[in-house]
Amino acid sequence: MRSKIKGTGYYVPDNVVTNFDLEKIMDTSDAWIQERTGIKERRYAQKGKETTSTMATKAAQRAMQQAGVSAEDIDFIILATLSPDYYFPGAAVLVQRMLGLQKKEIGALDIRTQCTGFIYGLSIGDQFIRSGMYKNILVIGAEMHSMGMDMSTKGRNISVIFGDGAGAVVLQATNEEGSGIITTNLHSNGDFAEELAMISPGCHAGYHEQNPAKYGAESATVFDSVFITPKIVEDGLYFPNMNGQLVFKNAVVKFTQTIEEALRDAGKRKEDIDMLIPHQANLRISQFIQKRMGLEDDRVWNNIQRYGNTTAASIPIALAEAVENKAISEGDLVCLSAFGSGFTWGSVLFYF
Ligand code: COA
Repeated sequence: MRSKIKGTGYYVPDNVVTNFDLEKIMDTSDAWIQERTGIKERRYAQKGKETTSTMATKAAQRAMQQAGVSAEDIDFIILATLSPDYYFPGAAVLVQRMLGLQKKEIGALDIRTQCTGFIYGLSIGDQFIRSGMYKNILVIGAEMHSMGMDMSTKGRNISVIFGDGAGAVVLQATNEEGSGIITTNLHSNGDFAEELAMISPGCHAGYHEQNPAKYGAESATVFDSVFITPKIVEDGLYFPNMNGQLVFKNAVVKFTQTIEEALRDAGKRKEDIDMLIPHQANLRISQFIQKRMGLEDDRVWNNIQRYGNTTAASIPIALAEAVENKAISEGDLVCLSAFGSGFTWGSVLFYF
């Protein structure tokens, strides 16, 4: 038994925010953003009306429609997000409720591996299907970054990059030859946990005190919190932080390694890939990987120019868009690959 990606769907909010819009609220420029990241615009959800789980539900409904299954056919929900509606419970149960599946009482699992969340979700779903436990699984990636970024000049290295949206697939059991997921690989290295992170609110007392050389003696008092303190609120320390250059350097190495590992495991070569869909972290990172893999432009899907980096949602949005545009045909060898906060990285190789 293998798992096949049977249906894909995505949802992005209507509200388009261009680089020129950002120029009006912080010290940045369209030229800087495009040169460094390739991004021209992103979408922001409608505050008070849309949330991570409402966007996730819309993407899931579209994926189910394409797969020709109804909500009642779904056995399990996996949702990857770093921007859930609530601190707890996770957003997967909210999607279950919006899909009207409370009576069926199926499991709903949140995944917290940020940019790599959808890859982790697919790999987990694949194991459940291979073991024979489930037949139809919704795997969703959804993010509402616009709810919590520092939109002042102080936060510009992060806020210009990220956008909102959701993508989903229906993973279905199949025993068709030459169909479905061939291999997945998952990796992490916690040494880099704080390099791309949002550590407050949290119960992280201790870490910074133990690392004065890295974070400075001052950080011990700032980060002596349990959960949230007035100091954290006053200083705006509840925003994400990112060591952009370190992320970039690690991303180009790990992306290449994880894709090569997937190809090796499957007994395939770079030339066999019909479509590579990298996590939309930064167009420069994707272009670097494309060059390393020796792939032509029509064998790599990029949409970061229009949506920015939507973290866990970026791969399923890109996959659904590639399917919608008929850039992937049945039987094509597709590679999905991600790197991000954690650091975490991994790939999925499948026949569409
Ligand atoms: N607009 C204008 N200037 C900006 C800016 C912005 N949005 N963000 C940062 N800058 C400034 C910095 O303040 C700095 O100014 P200074 O030289 O006066 O101090 C200058 O630009 C260079 O900053 P730096 O951080 O060294 O830029 P960079 O060339 O590394 O580019 C990133 C920054 C974030 C675009 C780049 O590091 C990157 O893409 N990293 C990977 C990020 C990523 O993929 N994250 C997601 C992973 S899943």
